[in-house]
Amino acid sequence: MATTEATNTVLDSLGNLKRTHYCGDLRASDADRDVILMGWVHRRRDLGNLLFIDLRDRAGIAQIVFNKEQHPEAHARAEELRAEYVAAVEGRVVRRQKANPELATGEVEVVATKLYILNNAKTPPFVIEDEVAASEETRLRYRYLDLRRPKPRGNLALRHRVIFEIRKTLDALGFYEIETPMLTRSTPEGARDYLVPSRIHHGQFYALPQSPQIFKQILMIAGMDRYFQIVRCFRDEDFRADRQAEFTQLDLEMSFPRQDDIFGVIEQVMASACAVTGLKVKPPFPRMEYREAVRRYGIDKPDLRFGMELQDVSPFFAEAREALHIEGSIFALAAPGAAMYSRKQLDELTERAKSLGAPGLYTIKVAAEGVTSPLEKILGADQVKKLAEAVGAKAGDLVVAVAAKKQIKGTEAAALIAGQLRLHLAEQLKLIPKDRWEFLWLTGFPLFEWSETEKRWVSAQHPFTGIIEEDLDKLESAPWGVRSKGYDLVLNGVELGSGSIRIHRQDVQARVFRALGLSDEQARQRFGFFLDALTYGTPPHGGIALGLDRVVALLAGEKSIREVIAFPKTTAAVDLMAEAPSRVDSGQLDELGIALKPPEKP
Ligand code: AMO
Repeated sequence: MATTEATNTVLDSLGNLKRTHYCGDLRASDADRDVILMGWVHRRRDLGNLLFIDLRDRAGIAQIVFNKEQHPEAHARAEELRAEYVAAVEGRVVRRQKANPELATGEVEVVATKLYILNNAKTPPFVIEDEVAASEETRLRYRYLDLRRPKPRGNLALRHRVIFEIRKTLDALGFYEIETPMLTRSTPEGARDYLVPSRIHHGQFYALPQSPQIFKQILMIAGMDRYFQIVRCFRDEDFRADRQAEFTQLDLEMSFPRQDDIFGVIEQVMASACAVTGLKVKPPFPRMEYREAVRRYGIDKPDLRFGMELQDVSPFFAEAREALHIEGSIFALAAPGAAMYSRKQLDELTERAKSLGAPGLYTIKVAAEGVTSPLEKILGADQVKKLAEAVGAKAGDLVVAVAAKKQIKGTEAAALIAGQLRLHLAEQLKLIPKDRWEFLWLTGFPLFEWSETEKRWVSAQHPFTGIIEEDLDKLESAPWGVRSKGYDLVLNGVELGSGSIRIHRQDVQARVFRALGLSDEQARQRFGFFLDALTYGTPPHGGIALGLDRVVALLAGEKSIREVIAFPKTTAAVDLMAEAPSRVDSGQLDELGIALKPPEKP
């Protein structure tokens, strides 16, 4: 027995004590049972002769009663308990006189006969409740306390089950789970690499994988036929709520697949993952071409839980173009019920459109008696009415139209801006049903997109994406027109995953590298091992990777993937609890042959 520094509480040892039940699992059917529970003191209420403790473990909370008259020793010991102390309780389950419907264990309580105090605890910096007032920073610094709250704990349990079901499904479909290296060579997925210096080879670096892309393709060359991996990926990029420096992919690859085979596998995987939350998913998922998605929804990952489709209304402006200084197309949509928007709300909307790159915003208010719009003076009342009809506006709707000069990556900027306004309006008007799950496959992506910053064609996905056969001969002459064999999986407007049928011919792969501006020598230097491997009998193959954190976040109803990762990093890629990144001592740097530059003078 030891005495704790903080309180002089004598601590018991666990000895031979064996837990019989989880606190959160007790039910009315356990009445009259003798139990041993172990957990943390969640709450304590002292009513003199009766002392109540809510004891909490991974499964939930049980109410424990200490009765001074019946069990004076246990009661006296219980008086020493404070929040988050660790305790074991021996006692008998009894039905409560008045059930607590808020608690799963609310029909019973445990009358304690013996209490063991296994450890004490400092007063936590925040209360362990779901409605916690602490900032995210404090929560992440004390993540071990944060994870004691029901919601994060439940999210990790959900994550476990989802991964477990995915593994079962893929095993049944004949996939092998195979690990690929974490210390490897850089593979390009569009972000910066995290580099690891080599101690043995000074001046040389490993890269942490941005994805196992090349390795999984090599596994197909190696004849593994069906591979998957739940794998950590590392990308040094700018973070948002749905991005982390390290994140987890469900990565898979198949040999000799048709696109439909890959879609079929993923549909089964998603059905089994969704079933964990009781959600029924009905494959096959609908499909849409990228161009159609942009035209109808102004985005490459349309949220199909609501309508508000875009219309190209350029023809209505044919004669007014000059007066309005419009160069590009004009896209419009009808926002249901938004005709009552105030002046202020309309101004806010216009500001939003401007911040997205539109010179301004045209609006039409639709009422039963007719339409009103500043556009009437320019287009005429009749044209305005027809325009409103063309976008399917009904009485009470607001029609919003945007023009924009530029094309962004070959797409009308006006469509993309209208697409953003569509999402904003739907959110603001509360038009997005929370209980709908709209999966969508997107296909027909262009192989390349033009990079303004680099002034060259870059891969829209990655350089290993296959090419629609009839576009092969445009690779050198008209790269902008080449369509890829890539696809994305979208759920409720979130990109869950991305993949493709790959290039399996070495000559085609070499041409793509050239089209990307890599000389044969540069390509050899970066991908020589892979180009070699391609020449030894590469089967046609293809695959996909899903962002597992995003899958779990959606199923958990969380906006941020941080909520479903045990130890996430902040948006500045900092681990607040472990305080990483951190400085290392000069001895470590010497061993690596690294000298730091002096900090630059401001
Ligand atoms: P891609 O780069 O599109 O494809 O990544 C696949 C999926 O991984 C998720 N994801 C992320 N999740 C959290 N944080 C990040 N920083 C992050 N980056 C990506 C997304 C994304 O859809 N090798 C290819 C796949 C393939 O072609 O098979 C790849 O990695 O949900």
